[in-house]
Amino acid sequence: MRRTIFLATVVLTTTLLAISMYLGAQSAAEAPAAFDDQTNGTTSQSAMDTAAAVFSEIETPAKGLGPIYNATSCVECHQNMAVGGAAQTTVLRAGHGSRGEHARDNYLHDSKRRSDTNGSSTTFTAATAVLTDGETIPDRSLINQRAICADAQSHLSTAENISTPRLALSVFGDAFVEAVPDATLLALARQNGGEAIMVPVLESPNTSEVGRFGWKNQHASLFSFAGDAYFNEMGITNELFPDELTTTCEPAGVPHPNDVDHDLVNLTLFMRTTKVPPRGPITVQVNQGQAIFEAIGCANCHVSTLVTAPAGTTIHGGTYVVSAALGNMQFHPFGDFLLHDIGTGDGIQQNGPADTAYKIRTAPLWGLRTRTQLLHDGSAITLEQAIQKHTHEAASEAQKYNQLTPAQKQLLNVFLNSL
Ligand code: HEC
Ligand code: HEC
Repeated sequence: MRRTIFLATVVLTTTLLAISMYLGAQSAAEAPAAFDDQTNGTTSQSAMDTAAAVFSEIETPAKGLGPIYNATSCVECHQNMAVGGAAQTTVLRAGHGSRGEHARDNYLHDSKRRSDTNGSSTTFTAATAVLTDGETIPDRSLINQRAICADAQSHLSTAENISTPRLALSVFGDAFVEAVPDATLLALARQNGGEAIMVPVLESPNTSEVGRFGWKNQHASLFSFAGDAYFNEMGITNELFPDELTTTCEPAGVPHPNDVDHDLVNLTLFMRTTKVPPRGPITVQVNQGQAIFEAIGCANCHVSTLVTAPAGTTIHGGTYVVSAALGNMQFHPFGDFLLHDIGTGDGIQQNGPADTAYKIRTAPLWGLRTRTQLLHDGSAITLEQAIQKHTHEAASEAQKYNQLTPAQKQLLNVFLNSL
C-alpha cells in the first residue's frame, strides 16, 4: 500500500514537473531566427546597422591596431552567411605542461562521467611569446600571428610542447545564450556531469557568473568577450584591457587606451541584437533523425532547448538588463554550454581550474550546415569523423551510434544537416 502511494506520488510529481516544464517552454516565445543582418528587436535596425559597421570596421596601426594582432576587424573571423557568422579562420593557442597520469588511469577504468578532480595533476603554463627584437611576453596562451613590423613578430620556443588551432565561432544567437540564467546551466551540469565554471565579469568588479562563451567557456558576458577580442585579436587596448603588450614600432600619437570612441559598446550591441541561426527544412526524416539523436543520448550534452531569463532580469552585477526582445525566449542551440572531456581536449587551461585543460565546451550544433571544418581545432571535415572522435565522457553515446543501422545513421545525418 505504502509502496503504491509512493509510486503514485512519484508518478504525480514527475507528471507535474513534466507539465510545468512543458508550460515553461510553451509560455516562452521562439527566438527570431534568420541569417539576414536584421535586428532581433533589442535595438532599432539603424542602431544595429551602426553597430554592425563598427564590427566590420578595419583598424589601422594609426588607430591602434597591434603592434601584435591576428586580424584587422571582427568580420575577418566572424562573417559567414551574414556579419557575425563563424568564418574558417583559426587562431593559435600554445603553452607547455603535462597531462596527469592519474587522470589517464581514470579514463581507462571509468570512461563515463568522471568527477572534476580527476585531472587535478594536469599542469599547464601559458606560452612566452618571443618577438623578433628579443622582447618577451610571458603568460600568453593566445599567440598573435601578425604584427605591424617584423621586429614585433611573435615566435615560440621548443619549450612550448602544446599548441592547437582554434576555429572561430559564430556569434549568432549569443544574445539569447547570454540571457540564460546561471541556475539553468548549473542544473544541467548536475544532470549530465558537465562542468560549469565561474568566470569574472570584467565590466563588473567582484562579479563572477557561469562561463558560456568561447571553446573553453572563458566568458559569461559579451561585453567582456568584446573587450578581450578587441585587445587580443586586434591589439586595440580598451577600458577592460588598457595596457599594450608591446609598443615596438607603434606610430607616434596613437591614443591610449586605443579605443577612444568606446567601440566596445557597439561591438557588444551588435552581438546582442543578432538572431539565432535558422533551421533548414524540417521534414519527416529530419524528425526521425532527431528522435534517434535523442534516443542514443547525443542530446544529453547537445541539449535542444534553453529558455532565457524573464525580461527585466538584471545580470552581470547590475550592468545589463535582459530586454523585452530577449526575455523568456526559447531557442535551440543543441548544446549545454558546459565543459566536457570527450577525448578531444587540447591541454590548454584558460579561465577554469586545472582539470579543464582537456575539456571543451559542447559545440552548439545550431548552424552546423554552414560549417565545413568541425571540432575546436577543425580536425574533422565530416560529421562521421567528428562523431568518431567522441570518447571518454561521450563513449557510451558514440558506441550506441556505432550500433545504429546504416538507415538509422542516414536519418541522423539528415537531422544534423538540417541544423
Ligand atoms: C583572428 C580572428 C578573430 C578576430 C579578429 C575576432 N575573433 Fe572572435 N573568435 C575567434 C575565435 C578563434 C574564437 C574562438 C576562440 C576560443 O574560444 O578559443 C572567437 C570567439 C568569439 C566569441 C565567442 C562566441 C561564442 O558563441 O562562444 C565572441 C563573442 C567573439 N569571438 C567576438 C569577437 C569580437 C567582438 C571581435 C572584434 C573585436 C572578434 N571576436 C574578433 C576569432 C576572432
Ligand atoms: C558528453 C557530452 C557529449 C555527448 C554525449 C555528445 N557530444 Fe558531440 N560534442 C561534445 C563536445 C564537447 C564537442 C566539441 C569537441 C571539440 O571541439 O573538441 C562536440 C562536438 C560535436 C560535433 C562537432 C560540431 C562542431 O561544430 O564542431 C558534432 C557533429 C557532434 N558533437 C555530434 C554528436 C552526436 C551525433 C552525438 C551522439 C552520438 C554527440 N555529439 C554526443 C560533447 C558531446
